[in-house]
Amino acid sequence: ISLKSYNTFGIDKKARFFTAVESIEDLREALVFANRENIPVIILGGGSNILLTKDQDALIIKVDLKGIQVLEENEESVLVEVGAGEVWHEWVQYAINKNWGGLENLSLIPGTVGASPMQNIGAYGVEIRDVFKSLKALNRKTLLLESFSAEQCEFGYRESVFKHKLKDQYVICSVTFRLSKKPNFHTEYGAIKETLKEMNVPEINIQAISQAVVKIRQSKLPDPKVIGNAGSFFKNPTVDLEVYEKIKESYPTVPGYPQENGIKVPAGWLIEQAGWKGFKKGQIGVHDKQALVLVNFGEGDGQEIAQLASEIQNSVKEKFGIQLKPEVNFL
Ligand code: EPU
Repeated sequence: ISLKSYNTFGIDKKARFFTAVESIEDLREALVFANRENIPVIILGGGSNILLTKDQDALIIKVDLKGIQVLEENEESVLVEVGAGEVWHEWVQYAINKNWGGLENLSLIPGTVGASPMQNIGAYGVEIRDVFKSLKALNRKTLLLESFSAEQCEFGYRESVFKHKLKDQYVICSVTFRLSKKPNFHTEYGAIKETLKEMNVPEINIQAISQAVVKIRQSKLPDPKVIGNAGSFFKNPTVDLEVYEKIKESYPTVPGYPQENGIKVPAGWLIEQAGWKGFKKGQIGVHDKQALVLVNFGEGDGQEIAQLASEIQNSVKEKFGIQLKPEVNFL
């Protein structure tokens, strides 16, 4: 079948086998089938962080496990288990309507709940690890469900153990969140402060923060339903202080955010300085409002986008000596 409607880049590649699973039993069956027939398996959530570069001689399993269940509740907080197949933003809205705080800064991120811990999704000063309690994942060998604590997930910037040591070994089935009924607001990210001011809200609350985030995202990031994309295509690199100071000599306004191990420089800035912002070639290009986002205007091909990504990497490397690393997974 065509995978065009199963990836937010809107790339038209085919899969040899495809199934959507709504229960753990169905998931086990699909894995057993693939194992017996010796077919590689690809697990798919919302398809919002992948670039399809070829037809897939594999079984694609779309995880459609649903459900939202309160496990524990007190005056301070609530513990909620959410099925991996729930759409991320719908879950965020559900929590906000209940007045459970912690997810508001993560509004409007494409994808599913099950994919969110894979790369420790983050935006506007918050990452999923800040509200994460645990997750359940099916071991693809033993077919048993196992529980993972935050520590076991080894979260980092857009990283988790599931992208490294345990790559392709588990299927995330549910995620348990600890949300707060007396939330701390995270409004330190510049754009949030400004937007809240523009919105003229009498009192800051999680609803207002969510609205502000939605507004910022809609103004910068293309809607995948209209223009194919997978959000940030590269990670923001952290460079040594000397490298940063060197860039600063020629570009006094270079943005930089101090980290434990250096200075994080926005990849979007580097790409813009290298002249790529708004670049268009046939059906693909670089978003004109956020240079970190590569776009497919309709009939673009995954190979072309991969080629463009590599040209961008080369030109940033040449200009700044910095190697950009993809944030999107190539398939
Ligand atoms: N910038 C430019 N030109 C551009 C884009 C950005 O100069 O074309 C500079 C500006 O100085 C801007 C700074 O980069 O102030 C930061 O830009 P922005 O706030 O848009 O954030 P980002 O660093 O480009 C990251 C995440 C996003 C997340 C935002 C907001 C990564 C790889 N990306 O982008 O996450 O929404 O911060 O917190 O860390 C994603 O992962 O798919 C994603 C969209």
